Amino acid sequence: MIKAGRVVVDGRKVRQPGTQVVPGRTRITVDGKGLDRPVNRIVLLLHKPIGIVSTVSDPEGRPTVLDLCRQYTRGRRLFPVGRLDINTSGLLLITNDGVLCYRLTHPRFTLTRTYLVRVRGLVDDKTLRRLERMTKPSRGAPSAHANVEIVKRIEKVTAIRVTLREGRNRQVRRMCEAVGLRVVKLKREKFGPVSIRGVPLGAVRPLEDRELEKIDRLISTEA
Ligand code: URA
Repeated sequence: MIKAGRVVVDGRKVRQPGTQVVPGRTRITVDGKGLDRPVNRIVLLLHKPIGIVSTVSDPEGRPTVLDLCRQYTRGRRLFPVGRLDINTSGLLLITNDGVLCYRLTHPRFTLTRTYLVRVRGLVDDKTLRRLERMTKPSRGAPSAHANVEIVKRIEKVTAIRVTLREGRNRQVRRMCEAVGLRVVKLKREKFGPVSIRGVPLGAVRPLEDRELEKIDRLISTEA
C-alpha cells in the first residue's frame, strides 16, 4: 500500500488537491522535505567591488556580479539576492534558490544588513539620532529603526556603522541625504548572520554549511 506523505504548504497542512502555489515563493514540504529547493542549490557570498552592476545582464554591457561567479555557474541559473548600487561595495549573496531569495529580501523576516558608511565632515550626536529615526517601517514589518554608531573620525571624514532591518532601494544613501550627510564610501559588511570578513574584494565563495543552517533557521521563523 502506498502511504500519502504529509504535505505542508507555507506552514499549513494540506489535504485537498488543487491547492494554489506560486513557483519560487510558496514553500512546500512532503514529510518535512523541501520540494522547492533546487537539486544543485548553491548560495555564494561575493565581495562586490564598485563599478559592477547587481543584475544578471546589463544592456549597457557593464560587468555584472554574475561575471565574478562564472566558476560556480555550471548550468545553474544564478541571481543576486537584492542588490547593491554600482557605487557600493561589499557583501552580496548570489543563489539559484528562488524561495531563499524571496524570503531573505522579504521585510517579514527582518534580516539585518550592516553597512560601513564614510561621510564627509564631522557628525554630531543630534544628526546621528536623526539618522537613526530616518527609516519607516515597511508594510507588515515591525518598527524598522536603524542602529547607528560612530566607528571613527578621521580628519574630515566620519565612519559610521548603520544596521537596518530592511533593504529598500538606495536606503542608506537616501537616509544620509535626508539629514544632510554626504556619503563618500559605502560598503555592506554583513547580511543576517553572514559577514564579509576574510573575503578579498572581488572574490566569491560558497556559504559554509553552518552559515546556511543559520540562514535557513532565520527564514523559517517569521517575525
Ligand atoms: N543602501 C544604499 O544606499 N545603497 C546600497 O547599495 C545598499 C544600501
